[in-house]
Formats: sequence, C-alpha cells, structure tokens
Amino acid sequence: MNPLNSDKSVFEINNRYPVKHKLHDGADILVFDDFLKKPDEYKDILQKFPVFKSDFFYPTASPGWRQIIPYEFFIDMEKLLTNYVGFEPWVDQSFTNIYKSKMPCNCKSWIPHHDSMEHVLNLWLCNGEGGTAFYTWKALDTYHYSVDTLTDDVLQSIFDRQVDGNFEYEEFYGDDEWYQYHMEPIVYNRAIFYNGNNFHSALVPDGFDDWRYSLVLMGGLDSEV
Ligand SMILES: [Fe+2]
Repeated sequence: MNPLNSDKSVFEINNRYPVKHKLHDGADILVFDDFLKKPDEYKDILQKFPVFKSDFFYPTASPGWRQIIPYEFFIDMEKLLTNYVGFEPWVDQSFTNIYKSKMPCNCKSWIPHHDSMEHVLNLWLCNGEGGTAFYTWKALDTYHYSVDTLTDDVLQSIFDRQVDGNFEYEEFYGDDEWYQYHMEPIVYNRAIFYNGNNFHSALVPDGFDDWRYSLVLMGGLDSEV
C-alpha cells in the first residue's frame, strides 16, 4: 500500500465562470457546471473521511449524516467565491451532506429552513432525483422569500413549532404555508452558490434509493443573528 497522495490536481477547479440565474426578484443563484477538473478523484478522497450523524458535534436540524472537511480541500473554492462574497476568509463551516430517502432526523427537517448564513456553496457529487428546493412562506396575502422580510417574533413563531424527536425524512413539495417556487436539481459536478437566508430544504423523493452526496461550504453570518 502506498498511503502517499502526491497529486494536487484533484483539487483544481475546471470552470471558474458561473451562469447567473434569478432565484427571485431579490436574489440570484450562481451555477458552475463541470466545476472540478477531476470530480471522481476528488469524491474518492472525500469519501475517506469518517462519517457522523449530522448533529454529532453540535446541534443542527440537518438530517442524515455528514463528514467534516478540512480547509485544504477547498482553498481554491473559497478563493474563487471571494470574488462574489467580497471578503475572505468567508467559510465558517465545511462538510458533506449525506442524505437518503427516509434518513433519520431530529425534527421535521424536510420543512423549509434558513441557514442564518449569507453564503452557501453546494457541490453535487452524485446524480439523482430531487435537489435543493426553495420556498416562500405565506403570511396572509404576503409571500416571504427569506428571513429579511420577517420580524424575529414571526420567525420564532414559525420555527418554534419544530418539535424535537426521532423522525424519518419525508419528501416535501409544499403545503398551505410553504410554496415551492424553485427546485435546483442535482447535477453531478455542478456547484450552486446562493444566499442561505432564502427559505429552502433538501428535496429527497420518497423511494429514491441512492445517496444524495454534496460538499457544502457556508459562511458570512447574517448580521441579524
Ligand atoms: Fe440549509
């Protein structure tokens, strides 16, 4: 066995020029297709890190499992996105989301949430159905896309209803309160960059039997929090 890995090219970015899409009137989403030069090799290395339940190290409503990923694995990504963030370092948390249909969660985490982070990069390292869905929250006749237009009291009243427990993740397409206006599909080696304060959740269709695997970098705390 040769434990030495001497090929730095697995970390290289292939496409530095995103396409910008409008998420809604107040927010864009950046899409980098074919993001890494060697996504298969990068994924192989990433998958060597140990896996923990999402809330193993600190409280989070995130379902499923995750790996904590060290800085050296995303230096170039952080630098590239600094052009859009405006300051560096901006990554506060770096991990993989390892999701599956009916995965365990400590609350009804299929209900949309916000990250309290302004900058989120999600790099798909899988294929499959579903993706990241974006929602508005309905109050009377007003639709709210993000935390920005809601008071702290209202936000608390929305999310206080989340009860702790042992649940299995469910597919979610919306209900009386939440309207799904956009679904960003899983595309292998595509990175998406968006403001985590826009309400969103992972759409994992029931019965889809493969792993939803992505690298997530997030940072830039919302000044309101
Ligand atoms: Fe999130």
